Amino acid sequence: MNYQRPLRLGMVGGGEGAYIGNIHRLASRLDGAWQLVAGAFDVDAEKGRAFALSQGMDEARSYGTYLDLIAGERGRADKVDAVAICTPNFTHYPIAKALIEAGFDVICEKPITATLEDAVALEKLARESGRFVGVTYTYSGYPMVHEARVRVAAGEIGAVRSVQVEYPLEWMSKPIERQGNAQAAWRTDPKKNGRGGSIGDIGTHAYHLAGFVTGLKLQALTADLATFVEGRALDDNAHVMMRYEGGARGLLWSSQVALGNSNGVRLRVFGETGSLQWFQEQPNELLYTPLDGRVQIIKRGADDLSVDAKVRTRTPPGHPEGYLEAFANLYVGFAEAIRARRDGRAPGALGQNLPLAYDGLKGVAFVEAVVDSAEAATPAWLTPVAV
Ligand code: NAI
Repeated sequence: MNYQRPLRLGMVGGGEGAYIGNIHRLASRLDGAWQLVAGAFDVDAEKGRAFALSQGMDEARSYGTYLDLIAGERGRADKVDAVAICTPNFTHYPIAKALIEAGFDVICEKPITATLEDAVALEKLARESGRFVGVTYTYSGYPMVHEARVRVAAGEIGAVRSVQVEYPLEWMSKPIERQGNAQAAWRTDPKKNGRGGSIGDIGTHAYHLAGFVTGLKLQALTADLATFVEGRALDDNAHVMMRYEGGARGLLWSSQVALGNSNGVRLRVFGETGSLQWFQEQPNELLYTPLDGRVQIIKRGADDLSVDAKVRTRTPPGHPEGYLEAFANLYVGFAEAIRARRDGRAPGALGQNLPLAYDGLKGVAFVEAVVDSAEAATPAWLTPVAV
C-alpha cells in the first residue's frame, strides 16, 4: 500500500458569488488529491473570513487577507502545500510573488498577470525560486485534447497545415458591466483586466489550446480587435491570423458577444494526411479524418487510446465526463508534479504536459502582441516576446 495524505490547499479569492473559485474547490476535491484547509476568499476581509467558516475552514485558518494567510501558514507544521489564486487578473502578480517569496507553491488562474512586465517577472521568479507554478488553462485538462496532442505528435495527421481555434461567448452582448455585473466590471477595466478584453480573457485559452495540441511555435501574428458594445473600454471580439514556424497557419477567434454561444470552444487541426477536430460541447469525442477516408469518431474511454487520455479518464465510455473532470485533471496533475518534485522522481503521466509559468507568460505575451498589432497604424505582423 502506498497511500499518501491529500495535499493541503489554500485559496485566495473565490468567495461568495465568485465564479471560478467554486470550480477550483469542486475540481480539487474530485480525486481526493487535495484538501482545502485555508483561505483568504474575499477582497472584503470580514466576508472572506465568514465564507471560510462556511466552507469548513478552522477559525485560525480563515484569513482576512492573503498576507494574513502567508503569515499564518508559513509557521505551521501542517502548512498548505500550495495556494490557488482565484482573484481578478491585476492581483495575480502581487499575490503570487508574495506566496512564492514565502516559499509556497502556487496554482494561478489565467491570464497569469495583467501586464507583460509582471508576467516576465513572475515567470523569472518561478524559475529561479524553483517553486511550482501551475496555470489553470482548463481546456488542456480534457482527455480527448490529450489524445489529439498525442496523435499530432505521432504524425497521425502529418505536418500541420492550418489550425482553426475559437472561443465564442455571448454573456457580454449587452453593457452588463454598467448594469451591476461585477465579473464583467473588472473584465472591462484595463487596469484590472489588462489590455486584452475578449482576447485576454478567453483568447488566451484558445491560444494555449492550439499550441498545446499541435506543439507548433508561433512565429508572428496580425490581429483585428473590435469593441461592439458602445462605451466598453476593451475589445469584445478578436480575430487573429497566425504564422507558425515551419509554415503552418492559424486563425483564432475570441468573442464575448457571439449570441448563441456559451463556452463554445472549438479546435480544428488540419494536416497533410488527416485532420483532428474537438468541440468542447461534445468533449468526449474527437473527430479524426484521414486522407481519402471518412470522418471517424474517437470516443473517450476506448481501449486503444493513449496513456495520456486514459489516465485522465474516470468513468467507462458512455458515461459523459466534462468540464469539472477536465479541471480536476489539472489538479491531480499539479499534485503529482508537486509530489514528484518533493520525492526527487520524474512525474507520472498525470504530472506531465501541464500548463506552467512559462505557458502563462506565453499567454500574456500573445495578448500583448495582439493588442499591439491591432493598435498599429498599418496592419502589422508581430512576434510576441515569448512564444
Ligand atoms: P470573480 O469576480 O467572480 O471573483 C473574484 C473573487 O476574488 C471575489 O471573491 C473577490 O472578492 C476576490 N478577491 C478580489 N481581490 C482579492 C484579494 N486581494 N484578496 C482576496 N480575494 C480577492 O472573478 P472570476 O470570474 O472568478 O475570475 C477570477 C480569475 O479566474 C480571473 O483571473 C479570471 O480570468 C479567471 N478565470 C478562469 C477561468 C478558467 O477557465 N480557467 C474561468 C473564469 C475565470
